[in-house]
Amino acid sequence: MSTVQDLDCLVTHIEQVLPGVVKVVFECSGISSVAAPGQFVQIEPSADVFPVTRRPITINRLTHSGFELLFDVIGRGTELLARMQPGDTARVLGPLGNGWKIHQGSNCLLIGGGLGAAGFQFLIDSVNSAEVLIGASGQERVIPFGACHVVTEDGSLGEKGLVTSLLSEKFLAEADVIAVCGPVAMMEAVWSIIPEKHQGKVQISTESRMGCGWGVCDGCSIPMLEGGYRKCCTEGPVFHGTEIDWKRWKEAGL
Ligand SMILES: Cc1cc2nc3c(=O)[nH]c(=O)nc-3n(C[C@H](O)[C@H](O)[C@H](O)COP(=O)(O)OP(=O)(O)OC[C@H]3O[C@@H](n4cnc5c(N)ncnc54)[C@H](O)[C@@H]3O)c2cc1C
Ligand code: FES
Repeated sequence: MSTVQDLDCLVTHIEQVLPGVVKVVFECSGISSVAAPGQFVQIEPSADVFPVTRRPITINRLTHSGFELLFDVIGRGTELLARMQPGDTARVLGPLGNGWKIHQGSNCLLIGGGLGAAGFQFLIDSVNSAEVLIGASGQERVIPFGACHVVTEDGSLGEKGLVTSLLSEKFLAEADVIAVCGPVAMMEAVWSIIPEKHQGKVQISTESRMGCGWGVCDGCSIPMLEGGYRKCCTEGPVFHGTEIDWKRWKEAGL
């Protein structure tokens, strides 16, 4: 039986946490009680006809009676979402997707690029231990976590550099799950330097433009190495790094 629900969820808190980055908390135990780390929700930005489709956002963490999202305000849909006020309700479909393949005793290495780390807190809260490596263009793009290793391209926080510079054999060897999320180019750069002996541990949280979010429109295909495509919304968003056809995915420019 599917646990996906389509509910009117109450906004209890909303704030800008970084320039152009908004945190919103929904009261919605119907979704949070069945959600797993790495899953996402589809939110209706407004009751008007435009934007036509809902917008997918990853669940960043659970709260006592709902869940929190962190999102970049980049276009019309997220602009409308950022205008919500406490007391408003929004139509939310979720939880969607497969989530990370982890268990409570997992020792995770989390590698995030910019807002790709939105969603990591739920994962951190669900495993035995987590090392978190974050790369961003500058400090205004670094999501605050308790303990993490940070590099920025402009050197405004942590060492100057790319997240790949933080990878070490020690981190890779100690992890039984290596979780990666960020822009495709960043994830491909990370994937390309992970030695083959550790590649089987790598899980990639993919992103794609989405229409329906529940497997109907075929709008979210991720190219697979075995040939063909799999759906980011229902078969993903998390795939093993070894399953993805990196060349075709990068060329698709998603
Ligand atoms: C499974 C999933 C989980 C996501 N989780 C988060 C999250 O936790 N936090 C967050 O900030 N964003 C997340 N996103 C991305 C987010 O859904 C998009 O930024 C949002 O839908 C943009 O809507 P918009 O109407 O504001 O912008 P639009 O007007 O639709 O687009 C503005 C610009 O952004 C580009 N764009 C839109 N969506 C994407 C996308 N998915 N990938 C790459 N480029 C895109 C468009 O091509 C366009 O150039 C997630 C996407 C997916 C598929
Ligand atoms: S978004 Fe419609 S099939 Fe995935």
